[in-house]
Amino acid sequence: MTHDTAGTAAAPLAPELVARYHRDGYVLLPPGSLAGDLLDVALDELPSILAADDPGRVLERDGRTVRSVYGLHRTNPAIAALTRRPALLGAVRGLLDDDVYVHQSKVNIKAPFAGDQWEWHQDYVYWLTGDGIRRPDLVNVAVFLDEVTEFNGPLTFVPGSHTAGLLASTDADGMPLGYEDAPAWVATLTADEKFRVRHCVIEELARANGLVSPKGPAGSVLVFHPNILHCSAANISPLRRAMLMFVYNSVANRPEVTGLRPDFLADPEPVALQPI
Ligand code: SIN
Ligand code: MN
Repeated sequence: MTHDTAGTAAAPLAPELVARYHRDGYVLLPPGSLAGDLLDVALDELPSILAADDPGRVLERDGRTVRSVYGLHRTNPAIAALTRRPALLGAVRGLLDDDVYVHQSKVNIKAPFAGDQWEWHQDYVYWLTGDGIRRPDLVNVAVFLDEVTEFNGPLTFVPGSHTAGLLASTDADGMPLGYEDAPAWVATLTADEKFRVRHCVIEELARANGLVSPKGPAGSVLVFHPNILHCSAANISPLRRAMLMFVYNSVANRPEVTGLRPDFLADPEPVALQPI
């Protein structure tokens, strides 16, 4: 079956895109590739997502600006339906060669002037140590809700770094500055990463492989591997950089540790999603 740009077929990505994902650890798809209305649905929902006083909402260090809202596939039916779009499921199932569910979902806002950084990290270390997910058989799908430019804090990858596997990291003890009274799980979601890869390791990989910041118009879809080494800079531009992110996990790779982290960080019901 060929890939359907209208987003109606539960088909895998085209073979050349699959090959690029496995080689580089990411692929950037143009707007409309996986489901034409992803952007419109997400933008319609965004004002109410941001306004809600939700337990999955994380503020920036300033205590005012919304940084992220987690657990949208559990709290927002329209977003939950998006995660089951045939073209999205087809692409992710094809990459993982299994049925999938959403382990985590979030919107990262990066507000103008105030959206803070994400330090260098790999995502998988959090899902291994926090949730007992034994293999990096997960896929991040990030939908750009705004145009992403070099100015508003794009994600920055070391392409191909996922092939190095999980890199050694140090575990920062205690709570980050500005979050001293917050629950412990917040320490994994702020501008100061909990698990830090040594700078000399990041330098070596970047010198060997280069750096890339995928940019594109709103509606672009960035698919990336949980072991790719990445960061993103603060947004001091006057323009917002919001991204909706779904973390799909293979159903054969269900968490072995449950109940330690809130439901909005680690889905407690890992059931294979059916396309709708
Ligand atoms: C992430 O590191 O997973 C997200 C960072 C960002 O939103 O730029
Ligand atoms: Mn990350």
